[in-house]
Amino acid sequence: MATPKTTVSLIKADIGGWPGHSTVHPELMKIASKSLEKAVKDGLIKDFHVSHVGDDLELIMTHTKGENNERIHKLAWDTFIKGAKKAKEMKLYGAGQDLLADAFSGNVKGMGPGCAEFEFTERPAEPVVAFMMDKTEPGAFNLPIYRMFADPFNTAGLVIDPSAHDGFVFEIWDIEKDKKVMLNAPEESYDILALIGAKGRYVIKRVFPKPGGKLPTNEPAAVISTDKLYHIAGKYVGKDDPVALVRAQSGLPALGEVLEPFAFPHLVSGWMRGSHNGPLMPVGIKNAVCTRFDGPPRVAALGFQVANATLGMPVDLFDDPAYEPARRKAAEIADYMRRHGPFEPHRLPLSDMEYTTLPGVLKKLSGRFEKA
Ligand code: F6R
Ligand code: MG
Ligand code: MG
Repeated sequence: MATPKTTVSLIKADIGGWPGHSTVHPELMKIASKSLEKAVKDGLIKDFHVSHVGDDLELIMTHTKGENNERIHKLAWDTFIKGAKKAKEMKLYGAGQDLLADAFSGNVKGMGPGCAEFEFTERPAEPVVAFMMDKTEPGAFNLPIYRMFADPFNTAGLVIDPSAHDGFVFEIWDIEKDKKVMLNAPEESYDILALIGAKGRYVIKRVFPKPGGKLPTNEPAAVISTDKLYHIAGKYVGKDDPVALVRAQSGLPALGEVLEPFAFPHLVSGWMRGSHNGPLMPVGIKNAVCTRFDGPPRVAALGFQVANATLGMPVDLFDDPAYEPARRKAAEIADYMRRHGPFEPHRLPLSDMEYTTLPGVLKKLSGRFEKA
């Protein structure tokens, strides 16, 4: 019998913050670990790692059941429900915040939690990085993912490795219209950038190897969560703090090429009240705590050497002095942006503020307007 393919599922939710929206209480991490430990014993998953970035509880799981598997998604949902119950007892902040549905209906998608998962044929050695962001939105991954897979100034392999030289295929979603388009890099790079530069609307969902290379073209090299909380809830319930999974090496960007884009703390939207532009600060898990102005937005990266559908021990990849200059720069940019107070472009443009609590304030003034 052929060895089954390996699936990595990263499913996350904010089920209560401690204190405010800053981080996850260890008690919730314990509950999650226990729940997933049992699932390993029951043979449902092969391995797991529980983590957090900011107020988001992150469940990283490996198994052989494929993407969108109902039992895997139910496991994540039930784990969040258990955690949320504890969070309510402990009166943690916003307990159960991201659990928007009343009952599980087959898949966590559209129910509040965020999800990135991919299935692939394990190579002889399989490095996988789990990226987790807090206080921002899925489009925050556009710039770094583009750089990993399409920018020769970031990824030397695109230029000098024959197995990466042909480039990659980008699956891009229009998250307003629920449409997607497949575009090739480098041939259609400018088209890709025309779309993904508008990061609130067009988001990279997956990246695939090209035909003719050594990797199957239907097995993603990267996948990003694109779940939009606003669209599910119909009102502002926090940002969609995204996650992504990226495979590295041997015809894909090297681990260091996957991490390189985060040496530049680019501006993302989110931060305080999901309403501000600010720098994305790369941090180790111990510093993945959102403090200043509920931020600044953070990204952590856990590296795994996946083997026989197990994760093994993670390496906390941004817990590294090499990322100190990026953190310093992010802090400096945070200072600069904060000096604008309530003014754009620190505060998001009005079109984006529609999804926040601002319309409630503007409504109060509507009767006071007269013809100018
Ligand atoms: C951002 C976020 C926080 C809250 C802010 C106000 O995604 O979750 O910045 O928006 O702390 O929270 P409330 O309205 O719950 O007091
Ligand atoms: Mg929160
Ligand atoms: Mg969050």
